[in-house]
Amino acid sequence: MVNLKGKDILDGGSLSREEIDCIMDVAGQFRAHLEKQRSLDLLKGNVLAALFFEPSTRTRLSFETAMHRLGGSVIGFSSAESTSVSKGETLVDTIRTVDQYADIIAMRHPTIGAARVAADAAKAPVLNGGDGAGQHPTQALLDLFTMQTELGSLEGKTLVLCGDLKNGRTVHSGVEIYKHFKMRLVFVAPDALRMPVEITERLRGLGVTVEETSDLAAALKVADVLYMTRIQKERFADPAEYERLKNSYILSRELVDCSNPRVTVMHPLPRVNEIETAVDDLSGAAYFRQAGNGVYVRMALMALILGKA
Ligand code: NCD
Repeated sequence: MVNLKGKDILDGGSLSREEIDCIMDVAGQFRAHLEKQRSLDLLKGNVLAALFFEPSTRTRLSFETAMHRLGGSVIGFSSAESTSVSKGETLVDTIRTVDQYADIIAMRHPTIGAARVAADAAKAPVLNGGDGAGQHPTQALLDLFTMQTELGSLEGKTLVLCGDLKNGRTVHSGVEIYKHFKMRLVFVAPDALRMPVEITERLRGLGVTVEETSDLAAALKVADVLYMTRIQKERFADPAEYERLKNSYILSRELVDCSNPRVTVMHPLPRVNEIETAVDDLSGAAYFRQAGNGVYVRMALMALILGKA
């Protein structure tokens, strides 16, 4: 029996297969519901605090949309400059204050581990919307939901993750979710941006098939899903190193057409130039549908964590 009531969602690794299946199930129910009716009053009277200390478009707006569609309300901020952090307030004091106002907290912060610090300080459950180059579990769940929607069963499918696998938090959380689904994982990255070796080794130790290459064209040929990621400019200490690596992989329409026109292409967005706009009208280009799925999955998470689903 799955019970997510009161649970913090800080990383991908702390969710069991049963919990993940339950979240997917409830997200599917909310999607079906919203097709008929634009909103519900399941979380009426509940307040979400959306605390974004780092830039965000999709994560913040889909959390807010999810709470509005569930009948609750939202407080929060979208940059640290507008808050008392700019006066020197600590994260813990900000969180202890917000905890007086809100029933559930979604937050994004530039420091790895910040969501854990917040969860330790708050009575309200905390949903990690990204902590530096660490984790981004709610994105990983909506990515899984998108894959299941686009492909059906994932067992035996080949998922190619491409780009900045060193700094990309969506893929760090993603692999902790995908490991439950018997998929073959192929990591495509330049040498300097490979998936951290401790993650790759741990996955292999769990029996997950993991391959590594720097050759996108070869990986694309065998991909059921190609998950592109942005080179994470804000995580580079040396701007010259970013300049050297920023165009490592660019998915062109030509490459898709000749290598694998039936592939499902995903991206957490924002893209800079890793997917040419000519790819957008490919039937398998799922990245904007993926962004839309964020609402259903975040509705499911908040309803389950608040004990209403
Ligand atoms: C990602 C993030 O913030 O980690 N975006 C998102 O949440 N959809 C990916 C990125 O910024 O590259």
